[in-house]
Amino acid sequence: MSNSDLNVTTMERSPISLTNSRIRVKKGDNWLIPGRKGSGKTTFGKLLTNQLLKLYPTSRLYVLDIKLRDFNSYPGIYQGDDVPPELGNNDRVQVWQPVVLDPENIERWLYRIRHDPPAILQIDELLALCYGRRDTSQEFTRITKLGRALPISTIAQTQELVDIPRGALSQPDHIARFRLKHRYGFYYNHAESDGQPIYYDSAQTFLGLQKERKF
Ligand SMILES: Nc1ncnc2c1ncn2[C@@H]1O[C@H](COP(=O)(O)OP(=O)(O)O)[C@@H](O)[C@H]1O
Ligand SMILES: [Mg+2]
Repeated sequence: MSNSDLNVTTMERSPISLTNSRIRVKKGDNWLIPGRKGSGKTTFGKLLTNQLLKLYPTSRLYVLDIKLRDFNSYPGIYQGDDVPPELGNNDRVQVWQPVVLDPENIERWLYRIRHDPPAILQIDELLALCYGRRDTSQEFTRITKLGRALPISTIAQTQELVDIPRGALSQPDHIARFRLKHRYGFYYNHAESDGQPIYYDSAQTFLGLQKERKF
């Protein structure tokens, strides 16, 4: 088999959108979204996820939503502290809203996701994966490390940059750092670039969407 026979399409970078070809993404990339409460992280994460679902039509979406409200309009909601049932063949989205965060259940869920690529994994608050002092999710670390090989993309919002799972900090390909004083604006960095962060005034600008769009 020659090199040209290899299917390289999954490894190629593609522009995040038609209007922002500066930002290039690969299946299995890890996104880290730090910022204070109310700064726009979840909104960005949701719009980004929608865009990635369009770019990767065969990927499933798994969401861990510990705020129990931000993903209520999504299909596939599962409310309960037990591990949600496995997705059926025709299901594409699972939103898990546990009230009690049981590390064993969360690890089991993440283990299952790791074995169901291609997928997009959205963790809205990495705090959910911090099980105790210095004890953070090993499965999440595995998924972020293996990300591109699986491929599973991760998108993780966090209010803090301490005590979050190893891998979340060392493995991100993209960082969107939100600042409260610039309402909904953020500084974007690609891990492989050593340039200055690029400032975007909103998720909509970043993704080339209309500002008034409802979500
Ligand atoms: N880009 C945006 N455009 C319009 N409204 C936004 C935008 N980003 C955030 N908001 C609004 O600001 C509030 C807080 O945003 P949210 O994404 O929930 O912040 P966080 O997840 O950081 O707490 C929400 O009411 C949301 O609708
Ligand atoms: Mg949020």
